[in-house]
Amino acid sequence: MLKFVCLLVLSTAFADRATYSNYQVRRVFPENQEQLEVLSELEKNPNGLSFWLRPFRVQKAVDIMVPPHMLPQFNEIVASLNLKSEVYISNVQHLIDTERPKVRPRADFGWTDYYTLEEIYAWLDSLVEEYPNAVTPVSLGRSYEGREIRGVKVSFRKGNRAVILEGGIHAREWIAPATVTYILNKLLTSQDPVIADLAQSFDYYVFPSVNPDGYVYSHTTDRMWRKTRSQGGNRCYGADANRNFDFHWMEAGASSSACSETYAGSSPFSEVEARLLSNFLTSISDEFDVYLAFHSYSQLLMFPYGHNSDPVSNYDELLSLGRRAAAALAQNNGTEYDVGNIHDTIYPTSGVSMDWVRGVFDKPYTFTWELRDKGTYGFLLPASQIIDTAEETLNSVVVILQHAKENLPRK
Ligand SMILES: *[C@@H]1O[C@H](CO)[C@@H](O)[C@H](O)[C@H]1NC(C)=O
Ligand SMILES: [Zn+2]
Repeated sequence: MLKFVCLLVLSTAFADRATYSNYQVRRVFPENQEQLEVLSELEKNPNGLSFWLRPFRVQKAVDIMVPPHMLPQFNEIVASLNLKSEVYISNVQHLIDTERPKVRPRADFGWTDYYTLEEIYAWLDSLVEEYPNAVTPVSLGRSYEGREIRGVKVSFRKGNRAVILEGGIHAREWIAPATVTYILNKLLTSQDPVIADLAQSFDYYVFPSVNPDGYVYSHTTDRMWRKTRSQGGNRCYGADANRNFDFHWMEAGASSSACSETYAGSSPFSEVEARLLSNFLTSISDEFDVYLAFHSYSQLLMFPYGHNSDPVSNYDELLSLGRRAAAALAQNNGTEYDVGNIHDTIYPTSGVSMDWVRGVFDKPYTFTWELRDKGTYGFLLPASQIIDTAEETLNSVVVILQHAKENLPRK
């Protein structure tokens, strides 16, 4: 009896954390319309499959995480459709187990590991203490589960125009908060005269983790969690906060099904995290001109819009600026990015934060990064790549900010 009880306790202890043993990520290439349509149908009724990269266009890779028990069925579908398919990740759990160092190389905040929300917030506190004249805490308010959504404002000079950095709206994209905190640190500490000049020339509002409930959940319970953690009486938790903004809401690339990874929420700004971020941005809307949002993965640098491919008024400027930024990014490690508007570069989407900023406030310089990699590790980029990723990304941010500095009218 005792043995039985012990086993029970053990198994519930393990059941607390989602495991992905022998889950594969399969990359498939739809080559014709029929294959694309079947994949799109499959995405609507995934039955346990999880689409890491959604089907969108013929010849565009689709990444699908397949649980081991669904492999026979999945293979059958692939075979019957004559789909080209590759095993991109053979065991997702193995990548989860190895993405972080076994032992932290150093105890302090050094971008050698992914940090918890608590650690990130403690580090923000330490900045406020260390730079009392430049760094002030900013809170957007409280998340669905009652966590503060925290950031900082950096201001070395009065009268600067502002730049916003947004990270972590999708919980599992851990490289985003890591990159945003890295850039914040460089703005405060870099000896590079170009970066120091940009730090002085703008104010910065920096929010490393705007979906704190999801981020915590991705640390404690399910590494692959993407959405918020709201519960609107549905069978499934959460909505995609980056489909929840009130701009062409639900027009494209968003789902009305509560269990979908791209569930747009029950209404625009149904998610308190998106609502609070939008309230804050509205309150400072006459202060800022630049909005930078960070995601993973795919290596893309994108500007508005996602709901259709109509060019924004400064499309040519954004395209050539984006290309120059991507070229600067590639200088360190040859990391290649595609550049363009969301609609044509990744897939149609609507209700995303950047598009709302552009559409509602007509801000001239808004960009979204899909950071490393191109699918070898996907969302599970090893922590050993954080510094290289953040460094190269900073190079692209510098190009964009220099351009903004030169081209924004002095106010
Ligand atoms: C990437 O570039 C940085 C800066 O040039 C360099 O220090 C680093 O070693 C490179 N990483 C790799 C894996 O080559
Ligand atoms: Zn994302």
